[in-house]
Amino acid sequence: MEESYDEFEERIRKEISFENIKAIELMEKLKNHHRGTYKHNFLVAKDVEYVAKKLGYPKKEIRCLTIAAAVHDMGKLDVHRIILDLAGKKEQVKIWNYANKQGVVPDKPIEHNTPRDIIRYYGRNSENPKKVMEEFIEWMKKNNSKKFIDLPMRTWLDYHQEATKKHLEKINLNPKILFYAATHHPEYFQEELNFECQIIGVCDKFNAMIQSEGDRSYAKRKSVVTAIETILMYSRKRKEYRKTIKIIELLSKKYVIPYAKRLLKTNIQVDHSTLEEMIRETNLCMKVIEELHPLRIFLLRKLKKKDKIILKRIFSMQ
Ligand SMILES: [Fe+2]
Ligand SMILES: [Fe+2]
Repeated sequence: MEESYDEFEERIRKEISFENIKAIELMEKLKNHHRGTYKHNFLVAKDVEYVAKKLGYPKKEIRCLTIAAAVHDMGKLDVHRIILDLAGKKEQVKIWNYANKQGVVPDKPIEHNTPRDIIRYYGRNSENPKKVMEEFIEWMKKNNSKKFIDLPMRTWLDYHQEATKKHLEKINLNPKILFYAATHHPEYFQEELNFECQIIGVCDKFNAMIQSEGDRSYAKRKSVVTAIETILMYSRKRKEYRKTIKIIELLSKKYVIPYAKRLLKTNIQVDHSTLEEMIRETNLCMKVIEELHPLRIFLLRKLKKKDKIILKRIFSMQ
């Protein structure tokens, strides 16, 4: 039986408390600050452990990578939850369109709006908009983030990786785990990072797209196939991501096959959220290759030429 999410969370929390008890205190803080991000950390860690095991890493390394993934977004502690809930949200476009018309938010591209713009918008209907702004700025000061008040919102969000490093340094976390956690966005760096950082990086992107649990509103709730396709598209554009194909293959094997098998069984048109529901429900075994034939046709039709080779390899592993 596959370990459930709750069992995994409990096991890794124990591992972390052996490693560094202060890391657990930080985790609790994150849970209170933004539960969805807390859960995202563990969902990424679960995939990272799976991928690292399949790649044959030694136990010690698997443990390091898994713990690093479980604390990778700790830096979101320094980003206000209003901003965390806004990032990537579909409704954001509506909010900005409305706000721009009202002249509440300056007429500029969505990602260029600053935290000050956003709070001005949010506070506009309150009894005391000035107080709302003051409280927000006070929060920023307390959390060493005041410098972001008039910078594009994206800058504050991007800062979270650096903030993760700062938080983990403060508690003297094992340097190797710290390094992995603080490089989970390899794309932020000029130089090419080692393969292990890419494992967390790819699993992070994948989970950010498919996560539907919790209240992490910036999860786009993409279907598994779309998420895999998106990562493949991205990997084609970036040379360092070429070597991450193996990670994508493993994630595909874990998620796409049960997903598509379920899809084939339904024979009806269903929307993405229903499909995600189906993935969670499914625990079908993947042993019967004949059953996978129609699925192969379905997926091959969906994917680009280059990626077909990868898929063929995935299926030949069955
Ligand atoms: Fe992150
Ligand atoms: Fe993340």
